[in-house]
Amino acid sequence: MDHFEIRDGAMFAEDVPLATIAEEVGTPVYVYSRATLERHARVFREALSGLPRIHIAFAIKANPNLAVLRVLAREGFGGDIVSIGEMKRALAAGMKAADIVFSGVGKTRPELREALEAGIGQFNIELEQEGVAIAEIAREMGKTATAVLRVNPDVDAGTHAKISTGMKENKFGVPIDEAPPIFARLAALDGLAMRGLALHIGSQIFDLAPIERAYAKVGALVMQLRAAGFEIDRVDLGGGLGVPYERDKVPPSPAVYGEMVARVTKDWDVTLMFEPGRVIAGNAGILLTRVIWVKPGVLRPYVIVDAAMNDLARPAMYDAWHDFEAVRPGGERMIANIAGPVCESGDTFAMGRDIDTVQAGDLAVFRTAGAYGATMASTYNSRALVPEVMVDGDKFAIVAERVMPEALIAAEHVPDFLKD
Ligand code: LLP
Repeated sequence: MDHFEIRDGAMFAEDVPLATIAEEVGTPVYVYSRATLERHARVFREALSGLPRIHIAFAIKANPNLAVLRVLAREGFGGDIVSIGEMKRALAAGMKAADIVFSGVGKTRPELREALEAGIGQFNIELEQEGVAIAEIAREMGKTATAVLRVNPDVDAGTHAKISTGMKENKFGVPIDEAPPIFARLAALDGLAMRGLALHIGSQIFDLAPIERAYAKVGALVMQLRAAGFEIDRVDLGGGLGVPYERDKVPPSPAVYGEMVARVTKDWDVTLMFEPGRVIAGNAGILLTRVIWVKPGVLRPYVIVDAAMNDLARPAMYDAWHDFEAVRPGGERMIANIAGPVCESGDTFAMGRDIDTVQAGDLAVFRTAGAYGATMASTYNSRALVPEVMVDGDKFAIVAERVMPEALIAAEHVPDFLKD
């Protein structure tokens, strides 16, 4: 459920008409609903309430906007980071260092040092050499790093190839069969406290069966490591729950996911950690755009909107579907292609889509754009960096400014050797 609804013929974000935001901030613009974010955070936590010990770390990559993180920090969420930039955001938004988990296959030594300095709660080690490096740096600093080993369970999550992470050919984690000796070698290092395991098999997952299979494999490894004398007190189950980009395709609910987790992990006796991203932020945001032209096409008209692939990359990158709706629907429908102004044929949001009839000047939204939306934006074609707005009841605020070409140009330099 979200708070972007048609009321009296026009779409609102909570109690704010989207037309008001378009008028005051311009388009394209991302709009987030605080109430929706909070609702999703609470539904997710509630779904896990039957589990004895849990820790939830929002996958900051999904939406690193400071205001969004602040909402989630107030809900008691920690952060799952993959860079020091994300750590800085998490801390700036009020997340506690101890609640931060550092994932990612390419953490650099300076990043590891900075994370240790900040006192983050956990390192998710992706390869043995990384564990050795963390131990070394921690020893130099007179510290002990708390860590888990990320395993690759070799399970096909059944999602888009570019967002699958748990198959043996993927770059993530150590092969699960090789985990016991690697874990043992890392556990023997001073400076490193190996406390458990982590996994994450992919994103936008609709079928819980592969997740369950992967969790079961990890459960068996927990028992094996314990039998070998290691103390295992936590398992990080990653993120990955899908969201309904198309209204008639309904993903498993957090509650059903929670039941599955309870069933599979009942004998584990560990703190279970979660890294949800999309399921929290996806439907809490829309991309508001204005139709520039409706261009007659040979087969279908092209609705050319002022948002483009640089603002919302998912359709161009993953052929992803985002529902497109008029802010003031008139009841008529049309079949059209939807494209942005960028000079690439790939700058297309939809082909042959059945949509509300729109005309030049009309406002429209791409739904489910709160996760992997603004954060993946670029300034390609020297377009401004898309701004973000958060709505709270009848109030709204700009939470990320539109970064204009002038500011981007000011950050570049023509060197002296080109000045003559
Ligand atoms: N934990 C780890 C280790 C991850 O790699 C990810 C996502 C998550 C948690 C959060 O997954 P979520 O709950 O959001 O599914 N840009 C792509 C998605 C890339 C996801 C990468 N990892 C997209 O727009 O679909």
